Amino acid sequence: MSEEERLVSGEQYIDDQAIDAALRPKKLDDFIGQERVREQLSLVLHSALRRGRTPDHVLLSGGPGLGKTTLAMIIAAELGRPLRITSGPAIERAGDLAAVLSTLSEGEVLFLDEIHRMARPAEEMLYLAMEDFRVDVVVGKGPGATAIPLDIAPFTLVGATTRAGMLPGPLRDRFGFVAHMDFYDPAELEIIVRRSAGLLGVRIDDRAAAEVAFRSRGTPRIANRLLRRVRDFAEVRADGYVTLDLARSALDLYEVDESGLDRLDLAVLRALLTKFGGGPVGLSTLAVSVGEEPETVEVVAEPFLVRQGLLARTPRGRIATPAAWTHLGLAPPQVPGPAGGTLFDVTPDTD
Ligand SMILES: Nc1ncnc2c1ncn2[C@@H]1O[C@H](COP(=O)(O)OP(=O)(O)OP(=O)(O)O)[C@@H](O)[C@H]1O
Ligand SMILES: [Mg+2]
Repeated sequence: MSEEERLVSGEQYIDDQAIDAALRPKKLDDFIGQERVREQLSLVLHSALRRGRTPDHVLLSGGPGLGKTTLAMIIAAELGRPLRITSGPAIERAGDLAAVLSTLSEGEVLFLDEIHRMARPAEEMLYLAMEDFRVDVVVGKGPGATAIPLDIAPFTLVGATTRAGMLPGPLRDRFGFVAHMDFYDPAELEIIVRRSAGLLGVRIDDRAAAEVAFRSRGTPRIANRLLRRVRDFAEVRADGYVTLDLARSALDLYEVDESGLDRLDLAVLRALLTKFGGGPVGLSTLAVSVGEEPETVEVVAEPFLVRQGLLARTPRGRIATPAAWTHLGLAPPQVPGPAGGTLFDVTPDTD
């Protein structure tokens, strides 16, 4: 893991790849959490199986590390069909997609990861393929060009995206089932940590598993990563058995606090509170004060701070919530506004 790679990022790093694969549940029943998605998906798959048809196309939407790739593999396994994997960035031209589509076997599951990054001309081709199991191969150029329709085998497209908002409406509408993957709650993550510990041969106390789960930002990939770091610590500093105390010491050493905030998150929060009295302050000013690029603060630190209810983005700038003061053990300033409002009123500028 390089210096810019954060322990608490949901992104997949090189050294996560093998572990991700080893820890992936293979069946829907072993997939933990996402109750609603699992139930809905189970219905979609099993009714298709019963009717002997290929199921509707499925779109998996959710943040990094929440289990989209895992679910795509499970879908193919549950259907007993082969899985073809490609991704948006690999499809630079319509021809790249035509090559994939025209070689699919009947009922094959096509996993298109990061589908929002596919080239536009390929999108048009995908619409037709999803709807009519047909592609139009264009032969020639200019006014003489003709489109030759080519039938393709019925298939199931499983698209995954971390940015559902970036998908064009017509594409989104062609999915029969859209699964919104949410962050996991600590109880679910605890089960995941215990399961992963079992697979990796890590001996861990239940309370330690709960602690790791709690600091994992609702994300299985982070939970698995923290588990590995905690295991390393327990092996070097003790006999390898992970107790609550050991887990806490390890996570403190790696600077992941009780809520899963890391050094950058805390620096941003501390600057907001101590240098700007809780805000409102503009993003770039805040970023300069912690020596980071505005984009890093906005993309890397803020989403989790917002989700934890510690920071709010308002039209006037970033402001800290009362919970932020409590989190850092500071007393919020009492500054009643003219109308008796408080610092935390979020009223947009009217002028
Ligand atoms: N519901 C789950 N139960 C158990 N483990 C899970 C679950 N979801 C994800 N994981 C674990 O988390 C890891 C990351 O999951 P996965 O690779 O499927 O995420 P992703 O959503 O595809 O992420 P990305 O957006 O980076 O592609 C997997 O290795 C798997 O072990
Ligand atoms: Mg993935």
